[in-house]
Amino acid sequence: MPTATPDSAFTKGLEGVVATESAVCTVFGDEGRLVYRGYDIHDLADHSTFEETAYLLLNGDLPTRAQLKSFTAQIKASQKLDRVVLRIIKDAPAGANPMHVLRTAVSAAVFVDPDRGDDSRAAEYRKAVRLIAQLPTMLGAFQRLRSGQKPLTPRRGLSLAANTLYLLTGEIPETEVVRAFDVALILHADHELNASTFAARVIAATLADVHGAVTGAIAALAGPLHGGANTEAMKMLLDIKTPDRAESWVRERLARKERIMAFGHRVYRTEDPRASHLRRMSEELGRKFGQSHWFGIQRIIEDVVKREKGLYCNVDFYSATLYYVMGIPLDLYTPIFVASRVSGWCAHVLEQHADNRLIRPRAEYVGPLNRRWTPLRKRG
Ligand SMILES: CC(C)(COP(=O)(O)OP(=O)(O)OC[C@H]1O[C@@H](n2cnc3c(N)ncnc32)[C@H](O)[C@@H]1OP(=O)(O)O)[C@@H](O)C(=O)NCCC(=O)NCCS
Repeated sequence: MPTATPDSAFTKGLEGVVATESAVCTVFGDEGRLVYRGYDIHDLADHSTFEETAYLLLNGDLPTRAQLKSFTAQIKASQKLDRVVLRIIKDAPAGANPMHVLRTAVSAAVFVDPDRGDDSRAAEYRKAVRLIAQLPTMLGAFQRLRSGQKPLTPRRGLSLAANTLYLLTGEIPETEVVRAFDVALILHADHELNASTFAARVIAATLADVHGAVTGAIAALAGPLHGGANTEAMKMLLDIKTPDRAESWVRERLARKERIMAFGHRVYRTEDPRASHLRRMSEELGRKFGQSHWFGIQRIIEDVVKREKGLYCNVDFYSATLYYVMGIPLDLYTPIFVASRVSGWCAHVLEQHADNRLIRPRAEYVGPLNRRWTPLRKRG
């Protein structure tokens, strides 16, 4: 029978399909290896900073001392929010989902971006740096306003990681906490062609602007099968409460064919390399803040899910407890993911625009054909 669709294999969820060339980042699923621009994630997590990593993703190379100084200065110069954006955050109704607020604020930021309407590469790069600079301020403003407090002004002397925590809590955190948060931002900065990055590239490939691509990417990241899994994982741990309940809790869910959040991955067939850093930091900070029981519960869950389903935890499992022991509200875990991943999204948008082709796949049509139209009066 003739079909409207070309004769090529259909793969549900595009699993295993190579949809673009990219020099930003790659994932070796069997080995559990993650590489940004040629650098192993373990080296970046051990030695780098988020600012340096964001520069690397956007520019392709690690910065020289002078380049890093200038990049950091650009971030610091762009951190303050325009009142138009602040007003949008202020006007969010009580109980608004922070991911909805964030994507609305990012979308609105283009109204007041000095480079709006300019789609040259230099202008897009500057827009990207502004978004990286402003996302923590948006997050901080949202959190302070909903707790009845005035938004804080970013402090010029602080790193992006320290500023994010300061803007959220009003306190300058200890060095150990800042370093753990900085490493978490490094680990979340990019991950090849994940759903939100693909969404950003699809939008960018129509030659739409950076703000549009990032807005769409935030919407994609919000889902519980993607970035939303970290919040869901913490809800699970809060429900389990104590290590002695962990095994039976997980077994019951698995028996009902339910998913255990923050486990499994489309690409990794072994441990997610980001999880090892987050596990160590989560254990250390849990101990420091007298909350080691979460780690105890998590190790039991890991054992059971590995034994029963052969699945490993992903980036969202230990980031959840890391943020929890830092005192960050549950619904801000995915927005924090945004504050980091915006660097990767923007690197992909710039890469897409540098060598663009509209992304327009086909669907295998499984609906009816050749139906006869009948007038409304005859349809009953
Ligand atoms: C990430 C995820 C969407 C990848 O899914 P996928 O590649 O489409 O894998 P599938 O949905 O085809 O799952 C394959 C098998 O593993 C099981 N599985 C996958 N993730 C699971 C989980 N978290 N808990 C329990 N079982 C899981 C599926 O039920 C399926 O089992 P079956 O073959 O017996 O039916 C999936 O692992 C998941 O939903 N994880 C939980 C959400 C999450 O942590 N997301 C963040 C990802 S970084």
